Amino acid sequence: MSVSVGIRYFLQNCFGVRHEEEIILFDVPVPEFFGVDIIPPLRRFIRNQNVRFLTSHYHCDHFYPAIGELLACARNVEMIVPAGTDFPAGTAPFPPNTRIVPMAPFERRTDGDFSVRALKSNDEGLAFMILTGDVKIYFGGDLARWTWPEMTARQQKYVEAVFDRTLRRLALWRPHIVFSNADPRLPHWTGAMDIIRAARPEMFVPMHIFHRCEEIDRLAGEGDLGETRLFRYRNVDDAVTVEIPRPSRGAGTTGTPSGRSTDASI
Ligand SMILES: [Fe+2]
Ligand SMILES: [Fe+2]
Repeated sequence: MSVSVGIRYFLQNCFGVRHEEEIILFDVPVPEFFGVDIIPPLRRFIRNQNVRFLTSHYHCDHFYPAIGELLACARNVEMIVPAGTDFPAGTAPFPPNTRIVPMAPFERRTDGDFSVRALKSNDEGLAFMILTGDVKIYFGGDLARWTWPEMTARQQKYVEAVFDRTLRRLALWRPHIVFSNADPRLPHWTGAMDIIRAARPEMFVPMHIFHRCEEIDRLAGEGDLGETRLFRYRNVDDAVTVEIPRPSRGAGTTGTPSGRSTDASI
């Protein structure tokens, strides 16, 4: 027995996830920043749906101040945002179907079969560990190995410490699907291969590639991905399905033959 999870690419860190009745949407950017129109496919994805919309932070490649107009076509929206940060100036009002839920770093929230834990990013805002049914998803936002050469040693040390702590967390938690930055501007792809080796997910979704989708082929040549599949999207609205094996009944928490813990708690 397995469970199907659909993943759809829109732009930058903006992806949709469909799992049974759950529709999850991440980080809708300002389309004009990229010159790519993602609004029509986003509208098709969320129209008349109950949507969990997670926003990691408000940089323009992650948040669209005019998003309210798009959200109005959904049935209901639960919009999770970083606590303690105001929406950017000029953010349009949100429609009545949208409930804003601020989350602080390390806070956990459960609603039925859906749980989310917020992690503190080493950029701004949050990353998310999500449990939907039996499916474990990590969405990094801009938590990544941002070791730009022009940074001070102290800044680099902080970035590395947060990133390394995340690697250790993911190695223990073993998410099935990992969304993490693979920014081609840094030679180590902002840590994409480190995340794959630590988390060993069924599916790795590279993000933050500025719609230069051909870069994913170069990432694929960077080393052994083990059992992990790479979502090699090419165009806005490309989709892939991941089959996640269901944990067998009575398997306990000691681990499956694949070494993945069946303890899905976050
Ligand atoms: Fe950012
Ligand atoms: Fe970003």
